[in-house]
Amino acid sequence: MCGIVGAVAERNVVEILLEGLKRLEYRGYDSAGVALLDNDGGINRLRRTGKVQELVDAVAQHGAPGTTGIAHTRWATHGGVTESNAHPHTSSERIAVVHNGIIENYIDLREKLSAAGYQFTSDTDTETIAHTVHAELEKGADLLKAVQNSVAQFHGAYGTVIMDREDPSKVVVARSGSPLVIGLGLGENFIASDQMALLPVTRRFIFLEEGDVAQVTRREVLIFDKNGEPVEREIVDSKVEHDAGDKAGYRHYMLKEIHEQPTVVRNTLKDRLDEHGLMTNIFGDQAVEILAKVKHVQIIACGTSYHAGMTARYWLEQYANVSCGIEIASEFRYRKSVVHENSLLVTISQSGETADTLAALRLAKDLGYMSSLTICNVPGSSLVRESDMAFMTKAGAEIGVASTKAFTTQLTAFLMLTLAIGEHNGLTSDDKAQIVRGLHSLPAKLEETLTISEGIEDLAEEFADKNHSLFLGRGDQYPIAMEGALKLKEISYIHAEAYASGELKHGPLALIDDEMPVIVVAPNNELLEKLKSNVEEVRARGGIMYVFADKDANFKGDETMRVINVPHCEPAIAPIIYTLPLQLLSYYVALIKGTDVDQPRNLAKSVTVE
Ligand code: G6P
Repeated sequence: MCGIVGAVAERNVVEILLEGLKRLEYRGYDSAGVALLDNDGGINRLRRTGKVQELVDAVAQHGAPGTTGIAHTRWATHGGVTESNAHPHTSSERIAVVHNGIIENYIDLREKLSAAGYQFTSDTDTETIAHTVHAELEKGADLLKAVQNSVAQFHGAYGTVIMDREDPSKVVVARSGSPLVIGLGLGENFIASDQMALLPVTRRFIFLEEGDVAQVTRREVLIFDKNGEPVEREIVDSKVEHDAGDKAGYRHYMLKEIHEQPTVVRNTLKDRLDEHGLMTNIFGDQAVEILAKVKHVQIIACGTSYHAGMTARYWLEQYANVSCGIEIASEFRYRKSVVHENSLLVTISQSGETADTLAALRLAKDLGYMSSLTICNVPGSSLVRESDMAFMTKAGAEIGVASTKAFTTQLTAFLMLTLAIGEHNGLTSDDKAQIVRGLHSLPAKLEETLTISEGIEDLAEEFADKNHSLFLGRGDQYPIAMEGALKLKEISYIHAEAYASGELKHGPLALIDDEMPVIVVAPNNELLEKLKSNVEEVRARGGIMYVFADKDANFKGDETMRVINVPHCEPAIAPIIYTLPLQLLSYYVALIKGTDVDQPRNLAKSVTVE
């Protein structure tokens, strides 16, 4: 989703801004732009639709020098993908603005500003920020005050950086609902929506808090809270372990990330699990007391993370004997819900910045949950900072928009949470032993599972000309079927739906024909016989099936049913193992279809607007 980079320095900052934008490309965007203030008092602005490279080429051709600058990758919300809608937006050749988020009252503001004589040159909500700030400057305020007065007029979400041609020594930034981080350099300072953008220039960051407005010059950062009071915010040394790096010889980041799963799952288990079970305090010191009291878990997430939460519900109820609710964050935040006694709120997120998940956490704080835990992949992210407890997955930077390694590390984390809560709620020694054995075997089992990749490549050929597909699973494999369907639609653009196979008769059977491949996830568990009956129902109606199964499940392949054997594993880790072949299937289908695998159309990696 939209990305922001800004800099105030003594040197020309255009390369820093462009490098920052490249590092944010993975988030998904459709146009890019840059504006710099030079010493002659002009605004050098260039914008392009398409990839950041188009902008880089334009800068090489036209030049855009300047020691103070802002840059942006836009993911269209208000107004189509055009150069005139790309950021930065300007007002009266004086103010330039980049913005993430949505100004919800932009129509009212637009009317008011138009009546005051401002000409709009885009269809965006963002342009109202530029003109509002300009109008406040005209009333005699300095840039900082003008921004403070302006944000008081905005409803909605914003992370915004504003500069004034008449004062090139500074930028003013404001955060409400969309993250912003200030990077501290020596005699130069930077701003970004994601610390990843600034890692080549600094590792010292200040994460702005909700309602903060800050004035950033080369030597000074002045921060004011939502009441306009000066505040000090902590300086944090970035713990982001490694950079996105390159593709390490893989054709796409997604394939690299699929193959990293054995390693990152091993990293997620490291120093947390020994041969007896969980090591002490892995959820933090205060967790010991809290987890002992938990009687209900409410999980909130979006997208792939939601599927991890759905799987966790099966585990928490089956093994840890606590009731568990799971809800999509955008639903949870807008309905009245009932909080159970001794209820733990668990948010789950790769990025830690998903707007709806963050809003749900903030809402939950007022609802009376006993405590909040986030399972998250990005240290220092908003969810980590705002939750009572944080458990970090160690997936490393995930660049592919379609989440892969983040998901399997989230599931690994949830199995550990199941052990921790189950310990106080009658987890049986057999179940504990099975989960611990399963977790210890997991990295090796994932490696073994990746070896079936070639067979899946062949299979993908049969999907490439299909328009629809159906994924079936039962029990804790139902969310895995959902995740498989999500992966396929995200990167191959084939319509994919997932059903708990017991639901087949209640509708989807009507869709079955030989043009609709049916993908079945079938480990050898207690629901196998029921699943086999569902498979027969599909076969009887001429469906073509692709069954991912344990070899002991005894599926016999024929012309209507391809069987792909998946390594045998402990039941508790089967959802994690069966995820891999479905990821690979989507990847190879997308490859054949020639889609943009790492940055699929219309999608964003980190959804920072609701
Ligand atoms: C976007 C991404 C998905 C991700 C979802 C939730 O839609 O494209 O891959 O699962 O956001 O993101 P989170 O960072 O909260 O896990």
